[in-house]
Amino acid sequence: MPLHIVIGAQWGDEGKGRVVDYLSAGADFVARYNGGDNAGHTVTVGSKIFKLHLVPSGIVHPHTIGILGNGMVVNPRTLLDEMSSLRGAGVSIAPQRLHISPAAHLITAAHRAVDKALESARGKGQIGTTGRGIGPAYTDKATRRGLRMADLLASDFRDRLRAHLLESNRTLGMLSAPELEVDAEIEAFINQTSRLALYIHDVATELNLALQQGQTVLAEGAQGTLLDIDHGTYPFVTSSSTVAPAALTGLGLGQTVAREARVMGVTKAFQTRVGSGPFPTELSGEMAERLRGTGANPWDEFGTTTGRPRRVGWLDGVLLRYAVRVNGMTDLIITKLDILSGMEKLKLCTGYTVNNALVHDLPGGADGLSACAPVYEELPGWTEEISHVRKWKDLPKNARAYLERVSALAETPIKLVSLGPEREQILAL
Ligand code: IMP
Repeated sequence: MPLHIVIGAQWGDEGKGRVVDYLSAGADFVARYNGGDNAGHTVTVGSKIFKLHLVPSGIVHPHTIGILGNGMVVNPRTLLDEMSSLRGAGVSIAPQRLHISPAAHLITAAHRAVDKALESARGKGQIGTTGRGIGPAYTDKATRRGLRMADLLASDFRDRLRAHLLESNRTLGMLSAPELEVDAEIEAFINQTSRLALYIHDVATELNLALQQGQTVLAEGAQGTLLDIDHGTYPFVTSSSTVAPAALTGLGLGQTVAREARVMGVTKAFQTRVGSGPFPTELSGEMAERLRGTGANPWDEFGTTTGRPRRVGWLDGVLLRYAVRVNGMTDLIITKLDILSGMEKLKLCTGYTVNNALVHDLPGGADGLSACAPVYEELPGWTEEISHVRKWKDLPKNARAYLERVSALAETPIKLVSLGPEREQILAL
């Protein structure tokens, strides 16, 4: 019953897309269980770069079936665009290999408009959302007035959509934001969504059966542990559960399948964050520019969804250990080790001082993070270029020592190290 769950161990953008692509070679199903098109997963295959926001990254492998689970919020426009650009790149996208849960929620133009209006109303307290309507769509889900994929097949869908748009216009009015043209939005939305009806599928039954029959399901988490609505740096978080246990509820799987699940946590060899919120190991100046890159390369630290420059810093071992705990992580996957090549000295955060006291775990969960000052351990860097390395023994001694220290801090074995954007630039341990 192999269920493998890939989650982000940081604030998202850890490189999960390329890891999922690598692991998909051995998977039958690749399933997204949370979030929506706020995610941006990049997969590089030869000269082709796929930037995926909704379709699971494993779809690039022709033998897989891609699943969009009930825990997701789906923007039909983004999904259709993505499906068509994948087809254009030669990837087969058909109802036989892309299945959407009837219980996944829909994102409308009204959700996006309310998201942006709420952000500007927050003023200095902005979260820095992606503006994709994620929060308002999950709000409607929680308040039980959301629109779901199954509703597309209902005879009164047009009326429900109208009620949703009128209600959203009242909210936009209260926020002094421009209202939407209801009739035009209805026509555009129905035109888009009618093309998705064929892809609605009972994915929960399908995945349970697949696991019973010994097939492999790879659950692809979006965002990261520290953006989780409960376990992240609230309120600077996304609106979904991003952690590994959410793969069960977000796909309709029961607890028993989790017993033998592997939970693979992906972390960069350093730390990044997009949007507002605490970040104890954040760097500025020359060192930050060195880690971020200029934006000239697709792998530089600029958001896949928004293009915003990411905040960067040293790897935070305290947060990593926290991510190990809340996810039940069994394996650690390190990405972008190659970016550290050529740095004379590296720092790893091993603890914090809070009110002059030294701590090695998060005081009071991620909420208490803004009061924490990092305590660093310094390690020697390496000068060698490592992107071609495929064996542990061929890594420079100091690179091995850095990884060993990270693994010890996380109390979790490292199973994969990524050394570049290409499919083959992965070292398996
Ligand atoms: P939202 O998910 O658009 O509501 O944004 C909430 C917070 O999560 C903001 O700080 C975003 O920058 C961040 N965020 C959302 N999705 C991602 C992602 O895929 N990678 C990194 N940060 C994200």
